[in-house]
Amino acid sequence: MRTILVGGGAGFIGSNFVRYMLGAHPDVRIINVDKLTYAGNLDNVSDLPADRHIFIKADIADQEAIDAIIQEYRPDQIVNFAAETHVDRSIHGGLRDFVFANVMGPQVLCEATKKFNIPLYIQISTDEVFGALELEEDRLFHEETAFAPNMPYAACKAGGDLICRSYFKTFGTPIIVTHCSNNYGPYQFPEKFIPQAISKALADQHIPIYGDGLYVRDWIHVIDHCRAIDLLLNKGVPGEVYNIGVDNERSNLDVVKILLEILGKPADLTVTVQDRPGHDRRYAIDASKIKALGWAPLYGREEFERGLREKIQWYADNAAWIDRLKTRGDINSHIKT
Ligand SMILES: NC(=O)c1ccc[n+]([C@@H]2O[C@H](COP(=O)([O-])OP(=O)(O)OC[C@H]3O[C@@H](n4cnc5c(N)ncnc54)[C@H](O)[C@@H]3O)[C@@H](O)[C@H]2O)c1
Repeated sequence: MRTILVGGGAGFIGSNFVRYMLGAHPDVRIINVDKLTYAGNLDNVSDLPADRHIFIKADIADQEAIDAIIQEYRPDQIVNFAAETHVDRSIHGGLRDFVFANVMGPQVLCEATKKFNIPLYIQISTDEVFGALELEEDRLFHEETAFAPNMPYAACKAGGDLICRSYFKTFGTPIIVTHCSNNYGPYQFPEKFIPQAISKALADQHIPIYGDGLYVRDWIHVIDHCRAIDLLLNKGVPGEVYNIGVDNERSNLDVVKILLEILGKPADLTVTVQDRPGHDRRYAIDASKIKALGWAPLYGREEFERGLREKIQWYADNAAWIDRLKTRGDINSHIKT
């Protein structure tokens, strides 16, 4: 059995990763460590096999708790998704939580990796640490692109990434950092852009669009992100950084247009809302380094509409999942329908 400690495995990408790994590898056992913030949802993993999926409610920034878990379960690998992730929350209050989860959390996991000689720790990060590109420029984010985070969320993620780098450079601790573009897919918390747009459109309510709507992101299906991490667990080189993206640059307006077409809703079901301060215009990834290891996405640019259709269908098939979220008092203020 290969034992993988997964941080944040009750969230959107983490729960997809746990589910994917258990399905793809019968010899894998997951120790899922999640603090269950408002974004954590045990419903995401409640159907997983209890003999190979062990859930522990704990804070990745709590060294004592993490050390005890590692001593008990002796993981072979660590993959950390745990973080405070909602950019708007990092702007409008709660930044202290971001510093603890996104900076202290990786530091504690680095320390544990070093102390207990764990062969590999992968820290999941974001392309937002690189700052913003302009719409018309050709430039893409490479692994060597200098960090220039503009938003508090991105700054905290960059801080965690740099701590990981320093543990490798100083102590030789085997750590990989990944920078992925925006994910979409099942189990995504309804506060995020695409699920919020779907639920608004289904309710015939206006979909809020920040500013001119020309904010471009490279949308990747969450399953392709999970497959990339799976590959790096075997073929990734400690101390290296890998960018993950699928050349699927789309503006927010384009994404909403496709969603409205799929749902058969009027094209003007949108409303302009005040722009986010410091809003980055465009992110775009050069993923050639991970592609050279043998990774290729199942959902590239051509498959984006299919991916969105499947996501809409997932939300339709899992209405009870959203209804149960709405009954949770701690998250009602975060769900915008
Ligand atoms: N969503 C995206 O598009 C995207 C893109 C690139 C990178 N990422 C990164 O991927 C990771 C997962 O993102 P997501 O969208 O699934 O986030 P999410 O908000 O859906 O899930 C985060 C999970 O982490 C848990 N958590 C938060 N703080 C914790 C702590 N201190 N200790 C233990 N658990 C804690 C939460 O309970 C939740 O289950 C994050 O690190 C994020 O920066 C996300």
